[in-house]
Amino acid sequence: MKPGLLARRAVGAAIVAGGATSLLGPVHGQADLSDAVQGEHTAGAATAFVSGRNAFSMPFATLDDAERARFAVGNSFFRRNWVQAPASTTARDGLGPHFIARSCGGCHVQDGRGAPPEVRKDGKHEQPVGLLVRLSVPGVGANGGVVPDPVYGDQLNNAAVEGVQPEGLVRIRTQPLHGRFADGTRYTLQKPVYTLDTLAYGPLAPGVMLSPRVAPQIAGVGLIEAIRDDDILDNERRQQASGGPVRGQVNRVWDDFAQALRIGRLGWKANQASVASQTAGAFLGDIGITSPQHPTEACMPAQKDCLASPKGAHGQDTEIDARTLSDVIFYQATLAPAARRKVDLPQVQRGAALFAQAQCDSCHRPSYITGDAPFAGLSSPKVKGLKIWPYTDLLLHDMGEALADGRPDYAANGRQWKTPPLWGVGLIRDVNGHQRLLHDGRARGVMEAVLWHGGEATAAREQVRRLNAKDRAALVAFVESL
Ligand code: HEC
Ligand code: HEC
Repeated sequence: MKPGLLARRAVGAAIVAGGATSLLGPVHGQADLSDAVQGEHTAGAATAFVSGRNAFSMPFATLDDAERARFAVGNSFFRRNWVQAPASTTARDGLGPHFIARSCGGCHVQDGRGAPPEVRKDGKHEQPVGLLVRLSVPGVGANGGVVPDPVYGDQLNNAAVEGVQPEGLVRIRTQPLHGRFADGTRYTLQKPVYTLDTLAYGPLAPGVMLSPRVAPQIAGVGLIEAIRDDDILDNERRQQASGGPVRGQVNRVWDDFAQALRIGRLGWKANQASVASQTAGAFLGDIGITSPQHPTEACMPAQKDCLASPKGAHGQDTEIDARTLSDVIFYQATLAPAARRKVDLPQVQRGAALFAQAQCDSCHRPSYITGDAPFAGLSSPKVKGLKIWPYTDLLLHDMGEALADGRPDYAANGRQWKTPPLWGVGLIRDVNGHQRLLHDGRARGVMEAVLWHGGEATAAREQVRRLNAKDRAALVAFVESL
């Protein structure tokens, strides 16, 4: 073992005091049989041993028959398209009036990751589906949240049912950014620049802020929700006390089910606290489906065609009822993270050491023991006390100007993003046929994602830029094994 590595691991141990679980696996192939080393299990008995196209779509191995039946119902409402009202099928009508996709699965394809559209040589591209653009104007809104654009609301809907105009279209240009590793190898990143045009209801408000975001993979969200608040607050305390550049902050956001402010965990800015709240919000915002939490369509006052359009379920009740909504929540919350692959490869083990050495783990915290899962209907023993390996601190970090969207979201400022979990990152290619990473999918693979890191993660990125080609490949192999 290199002396430098030893020293760093000792520092690492100090930083994660109280969280000895965070130390990574064996270095240089040395056997380390302690509980601190991650093997193949990502979530104890709940782990799904699966790869390929269904890697994000398996239930917890521990579900019983009744729970599996509920999982299947939730799955069908996640995946199947909603249709324009009025329709013969009142169980699934009420799409729009404005929307982006016709189903959850339209963006989270196979419960996986969305991608920005390919920008062709002539600058043309399809309208994005798995990437949406959040909108707001400066100021603090209800419960500390954003202030929506007064005409377009809090996200751009680039599709609409017949008889209603889509709000507008998203345009993406890319600018090349050139750089080099320390060994002279060149790389080129593509920086996306977003504009909105063909706006149906007149101009956007002055000072409007855009935040483009891709759909993350869903597997494991229930376990993210089962991480104890105290652990997240501990991450924050430890980082703030360390005096180093890494100083994450918790976000606190309104939860539509708890009807209270909660620690944010989901979304690229930790702008949602629970799978339940995220789900009801997505039904309304992304598909135009009303629910007990959001009984009114998201048509803004100036959008007369939207307001006049027929409602689903023949105008009775909401377009999705409480029971079906809870099945969709249950479905997502019990999607299992997939087991790691290639754990014993020397290259992967070398990558694990480099991940610790570059202090990636100061933000991408490897493991937790789960607490209670508050989502509806799941018997708690199935998620409680599991050792899970999501590789996130769930905190907001200043990631530098190049990644900044300039748009605050609750306590998150315009330069901060939540550390995303890294479990499953290596399976996105199998499931979705691409590996577009970061909040707007600008990175084409793990190495580009690291090269975009700035701000609090600058030192980590610079360490990676100094690695030779073999070690760079090892780091990527480790991250892709998660
Ligand atoms: C138009 C594309 C789109 C559709 C349709 C969509 N989502 Fe999403 N989803 C996203 C994006 C983008 C995010 C990240 C949001 C953010 O950062 O604010 C997200 C985030 C999530 C998350 C949080 C994941 C995490 O780890 O942070 C969950 C859970 C989720 N969506 C569930 C759903 C459900 C359930 C539906 C259907 C009701 C749905 N989504 C429909 C694009 C979509
Ligand atoms: C200061 C905290 C911090 C450090 C240190 C850090 N990261 Fe990250 N990482 C983040 C945040 C925040 C994002 C999301 C940024 C965005 O989406 O714009 C991210 C995103 C990623 C992604 C993309 C994940 C996805 O789902 O799209 C990968 C891969 C990644 N980091 C790997 C690493 C590696 C490898 C290292 C060490 C070289 C590292 N990170 C160091 C905070 C950090």
